[in-house]
Amino acid sequence: MAIYVTSGIKGGSGRSTIAENFTIWLSRQGFDVLLVDADEQGTASDFTTWREYTLEGNVGYTLVQLVGANLRKQVETMKTKYDHIVIDTGGRDTTSQRSALIVADIALIPFQPRSHDVWTLAKLNEMLEEIQSSRLEPLTVHVFLNRADITSADNREAAEALSTQPSFSFVPHLVKNRKAYPNAASKGLAVFEMEEPDKKAVSEIEELFKYVTAHERIPATR
Ligand SMILES: Nc1ncnc2c1ncn2[C@@H]1O[C@H](COP(=O)(O)OP(=O)(O)OP(=O)(O)O)[C@@H](O)[C@H]1O
Ligand SMILES: [Mg+2]
Repeated sequence: MAIYVTSGIKGGSGRSTIAENFTIWLSRQGFDVLLVDADEQGTASDFTTWREYTLEGNVGYTLVQLVGANLRKQVETMKTKYDHIVIDTGGRDTTSQRSALIVADIALIPFQPRSHDVWTLAKLNEMLEEIQSSRLEPLTVHVFLNRADITSADNREAAEALSTQPSFSFVPHLVKNRKAYPNAASKGLAVFEMEEPDKKAVSEIEELFKYVTAHERIPATR
């Protein structure tokens, strides 16, 4: 059992996209998954509404909306009922995001290889260090490039900056900027559920998910 949280302090980096695809990927492996929408914007909830429509109700996971300081307690009471929990947080350093980072085992942080995003690195380190100091067990933090440029050379600078940070490990798999992600999301589907899936998008995101589930470092008590 693991609690995952998609996190990060920059808006639009792909947290919801990753949370939705990851929830569906886990549920397709037979796990009973709870998707927690911890963002007031309600992106994961809207996605699930579209999914209900597309799949005629059979979404394959359970969705709840939880925000604020209460999130931590509520997730803790629910964790025995599910195989995995995935929490999608909002973009700012809010109470919801902090309580999600305290209750989670693993943080997945998408990062766009753009200068404005790289400039937020100091803040991200600061937030993660503060979170780690208020936890009993360390949080596993995976940062990866999302909406990366199709030409690899363009991602190099960001990858270099991310690979030498003190507060997280940099994932050696990236997700490129592909229309397949918004196209699938607009139907409430994961990229690998489309009738004619974008094979590159599917392989990228599956490699990422395989990597993060193979590097969980779940505390021995779970
Ligand atoms: N790899 C990708 N390629 C192309 N588009 C993407 C990719 N990942 C996400 N997007 C698109 O980028 C936009 C922002 O993504 P998403 O909503 O997942 O980010 P977010 O971090 O949750 O944003 P917010 O700050 O609003 O919570 C969406 O339109 C989404 O479809
Ligand atoms: Mg979002």
